[in-house]
Amino acid sequence: MINCVPVITIDGPSGAGKGTICQLIAIKLGFHYLDSGALYRLLVLAAMRHAVDLSNVESLAVLAAHMDISFNMNSEFESQVILEGEDVSALIRDEHIGSDASTIAAHLEVRTALLSRQRAFAKYPGLVADGRDMGTIVFPDAGAKIFLTANSEIRAKRRHKQLMDKGKDASLASLIEQVKKRDERDMTRKSSPMVPAHDAVIIDSSHMSINGVLELGLEIAKKNGIHPQ
Ligand code: DC
Repeated sequence: MINCVPVITIDGPSGAGKGTICQLIAIKLGFHYLDSGALYRLLVLAAMRHAVDLSNVESLAVLAAHMDISFNMNSEFESQVILEGEDVSALIRDEHIGSDASTIAAHLEVRTALLSRQRAFAKYPGLVADGRDMGTIVFPDAGAKIFLTANSEIRAKRRHKQLMDKGKDASLASLIEQVKKRDERDMTRKSSPMVPAHDAVIIDSSHMSINGVLELGLEIAKKNGIHPQ
């Protein structure tokens, strides 16, 4: 909790279903939602647009602290990500942006610059925070912590289906490779590696339905005294 605002953190690797579950929990509880991965993705896009080299850590940190971003919810409860007035929600989901986001996220300077921006999302009546280090670094005092995972092949298959549904071509083999590479980088970096918080409940969603994970998440929140508004 930050200033007594109830916070639920959901960390875990890409493709485990964090985004969907966090948004559903946020809607059910009437809470705000933080997609922290979008901040790292936005930073990559902002750097590309401002001709900042991704290896220039100092400039990246300045950009991270000052980039003009906002998050909205549209009438269909879909979250929209805005960079300098433009809706870039679809653009930042590109695989290359995800991979570059994972690379720049390894720099402590970048993580530090984004810390206060992430904490500012903790507002009444509450927050559901989605990421890799939400329960360990950003909101260590969160009231309920979950680490949501699934085996890498299942996560790559889910991503493959999402891309095919959008009419995009993708090789499953290369997606499995990319998922494994990104996990390796996110888990082994020195600053805030992706690890479950010591007090997190670990959920393996490999063979669970979205509803099953949602119910479990709500039960964990309730057990920790976090209730709908
Ligand atoms: O959740 P995502 O796939 O949108 O995140 C993209 C990358 O950003 C991810 O591979 C690692 C980084 N990230 C991070 O280091 N810490 C977070 N809290 C969220 C994302």
